[in-house]
Amino acid sequence: TDPLRLGIAGLGTVGAGVVKIVRQKANLLAARTGRPVVITAVSARSRDKDRGVNLSQYAWEDDPVALAKRDDVDVFVELMGGADGPAKAATQAAIAAGKDVVTANKAMLAIHGQELAEAAEAAGRVIRFEAAVAGGIPVIKALTESLAGNQVERVMGVMNGTCNYILTRMENAGLPYDEVFEEANQLGYLEADPTLDVGGIDAAHKLALLASVAYGTKVAFDAVEIEGIERITIEDIEQAADMGYRIKLLGVAQMTGRGLEQRMSPCLVPASSPLGQLEGGTNMVVLEGDHVGQIVLRGAGAGEGPTASAVMSDVLDIARNIRVPTFGQPATTLSAAKPAKSAAP
Ligand code: HSE
Repeated sequence: TDPLRLGIAGLGTVGAGVVKIVRQKANLLAARTGRPVVITAVSARSRDKDRGVNLSQYAWEDDPVALAKRDDVDVFVELMGGADGPAKAATQAAIAAGKDVVTANKAMLAIHGQELAEAAEAAGRVIRFEAAVAGGIPVIKALTESLAGNQVERVMGVMNGTCNYILTRMENAGLPYDEVFEEANQLGYLEADPTLDVGGIDAAHKLALLASVAYGTKVAFDAVEIEGIERITIEDIEQAADMGYRIKLLGVAQMTGRGLEQRMSPCLVPASSPLGQLEGGTNMVVLEGDHVGQIVLRGAGAGEGPTASAVMSDVLDIARNIRVPTFGQPATTLSAAKPAKSAAP
């Protein structure tokens, strides 16, 4: 059988993680998909940086757009990040050149996903993005495959590990927001633009993608009601604790009579609930289907291994020729609903 040939753009933590899996697990991946999975070409900003992986066998491209168009690439793996710029240009070029795309780029998809998905569909290609939502947690696949026999009633989640780290650290150590923010910064947890994390925007990107998959609706990031954690104080957290609650940056998406409602905001959750017990930099997604009931998924929402694991699940689906559609159809979206201060059973 012909190998599935990957072109990887972006060799940061996640890109290097994907290279490691492809190299270390070659036999296992071939056995599981029935065909070899190989990397033919890579691209990144700096060629000389030591990433702890051997890249010498792969063709090098300085320009990700050139990588995306290469004849020896079947799947363009976009791990550069950034909503616009080279990530989007290269993704468009890949689709135009007839490649399937796997990406971890939540910001790009939240903003341009609909347009990109329509282009891919017209070209008979797929864009897969398991890694873009809650890192290693297989939530997209849970919705598109495992729960495909259900009507989704609600999806909820803590999908920004940095915010959850900050909130739980404030609570457990009794430290003020500013101090813990600085700590998170020192630990390298924050996005290059920290507002994406603490402003709730990164988590809202993920919620918009999740809602689109759950309800078969167009990606509607603009319709997400967003409130971040910047104004949460120790006093808020202590008062919540006195009443048996914890404060979580929680995303909720549900279909109402007025359309799709999407909110990302600090919420009170019962301390004894699964969401209330989520500590540190982890993520949790709660899925509710009409037949299955409630499902709780918890795991690492970021990091090399977990995110690369999710990227590989998409690559392996393509190797197996599983081409489940992900983004959905047009829908009415709500933009007027105000975020509630408390939610979640
Ligand atoms: N900044 C994100 C987080 C990284 O803290 O969850 C993973 O998307």
